[in-house]
Formats: sequence, structure tokens, C-alpha cells
Amino acid sequence: MDKMSTADEKIKEISTWWNMFRWPLRPGMEELDVIGKLVKRVDAGQGMVLGSTPELVDLLLRQQGLRVVILDNFEPSVRAMEKLGQENWTSVKIILSDWLTKVNPLNESLDLILAHNSFIFLQFPEMWEKLFKILRGYLDINGRIVARCFFAPSRPFNFETFFEQTFNRLRTINNDRPSTSDIETFKRELTAIRLGTALESINPKGVLECKGRNNRIDTVKKTLGQSFTHSSYREIMDAVFCKEFAKEGGLVPVAIPDWENVKTILETTGFVVESDIPLESEIFPGVIRCFSAVKN
Ligand SMILES: C[S@@+](CC[C@H](N)C(=O)[O-])C[C@H]1O[C@@H](n2cnc3c(N)ncnc32)[C@H](O)[C@@H]1O
Repeated sequence: MDKMSTADEKIKEISTWWNMFRWPLRPGMEELDVIGKLVKRVDAGQGMVLGSTPELVDLLLRQQGLRVVILDNFEPSVRAMEKLGQENWTSVKIILSDWLTKVNPLNESLDLILAHNSFIFLQFPEMWEKLFKILRGYLDINGRIVARCFFAPSRPFNFETFFEQTFNRLRTINNDRPSTSDIETFKRELTAIRLGTALESINPKGVLECKGRNNRIDTVKKTLGQSFTHSSYREIMDAVFCKEFAKEGGLVPVAIPDWENVKTILETTGFVVESDIPLESEIFPGVIRCFSAVKN
């Protein structure tokens, strides 16, 4: 058997890791329907995904006639997401560049820019503002940004209560011989816990405090690790409860701001907010929103 190259190993590692995540870190079917409606039908021209979220690249590829571009600075991540995509990505043009560096050939060339939580990796508000201005320059007349993104909860979020309720639900799954459905439940509940650790760690300015968040991740991992000892559960815990450090391809979320503040920045950087759809979630009120902003 051929030895895997280091690059292939990295791609496999990232795709296996990302495949452990579920909603809310990945978009659900209903949310993709909402995004699809906001995207409108653009059958010609060019659409770009900021990052390489498989569900979004697939969504654009299904719009026949639309040329699809990915803007991402880490090729192994793009290749890993391609593995998770369901469509054929061979026609996708990949531009390897940082989002905050202007790519001149993109100027006024796009009808659509899709983003999935891309902004939360950037300092708020300075870098969001800078990015919105750059993206505006890439859009043609009437071009739009459509994004699914996390924002500060509309009601105070209490992590302890949320974790207790989640833990109670998890008590119903089998530790010794997990079924496929148990494994799925575990992935789903842990992904939600991961988002919960972030919401508990944002200050009123929307800045995410990483140290406190990493400590919280450690604590929940230890608590769950005492009850869920099966190797499949351990594998999921290791993946979903990984701590984030700035490194190549590493993603460290740093900002989960208030939607109203983001809306203001969109408006002052030359956009009209056309739609703002809070996606219903009892556990995460007001957190998951899809918006569309049209070039003014
Ligand atoms: C869009 S983010 C979203 C995370 C996750 N894949 C999702 O769908 O929610 C992930 C991608 O963004 C890329 N990325 C993160 N920061 C970037 C930056 N400043 N410039 C370009 N690409 C970046 C990463 O390499 C990664 O492929």
C-alpha cells in the first residue's frame, strides 16, 4: 500500500475531524433552505464562498451556470472540505489568499458571496469593517453577501443550566454498546455544548475570551469523560472538544458580536441589509442568523 503523503494525512485528519461536528456548528437542512432562498437564483455570473464550507460550495454548484470560487488561505482545509462535499468540485476555482488581503482580479466580478461563520475568526469591529469593505469591492452592481453566522444571544445564556439539561438527555444513550443513533446523538449534543462554551465566554463587546473558554472545554470534557468511556465516544470528545490555538489552518473564534452592531457596520460600509432571519432555536435564542446584504 502506498504511503500517504504528509499533505494527504493532513487532509484526512481535517476531514475526519470536521465530520464529527453536527448542527449548530454545521448548517442544518432547514437553514440551508433559508440560505438557498436568500441566494435567489443566479444562473450566470460568479459566486464565491469565503472559506470552504462544504454545504455552501455544494449549494452554489447546484445553481447551473454559476461559476464558483473559493477564497481560503489553507489548501489542506479546502481539500478536506471537498471530501465532505457531495457535488463534483472540479470546476471550482480556488484562490488561496487571506480574506483581508485584497485580490484585485476579483474586483466587481462577483454576484454573490456566501459565508458560514467566517467572520467570527476576525477581531470585531475593525477587521469585520475592513473585510466588508473588501467584499463590497468584489461585488458587481446588486451583488450580495449571504451569511449564516453566530451572534450574541438575545437573552442571557446560562451555561451551567444548559449543560445540566444536555447531560440529562445524554444519560439515555448506551455507554457499553452505542448504537448508530447513540453516536449521532452524542455528536449532536457535544457540538451544541461546544457552541455553549463560546457563548458563555463573550463579553458585552462581543469579544470571545479564549482562556476561559478553553478551561470550560476542559471541565466539560472531564465531566463527560467519567460517564462516557466507550472508545467511539472518546474519539468524538477528543475531536469536538479540541482546544483552539492559533496555528496554520487553526481556527480561533475571537468575536461573537451583537447583530445590531454588525448591521450598523454593514450599512456604513455600503450595504443595504435586505434580510435578517433569526433561525429558531430555543437553546440558543437569537444566536444563529442568516442575513443577506446587498451592495448599495
Ligand atoms: C469559513 S471557516 C468556517 C468553519 C467551518 N468549516 C464551517 O463551515 O463552519 C473555515 C475555513 O476558513 C478558512 N479561513 C479561516 N480564516 C481565514 C482567513 N483569514 N483567510 C482565508 N481563509 C481563512 C480556513 O482555512 C477554513 O478552510
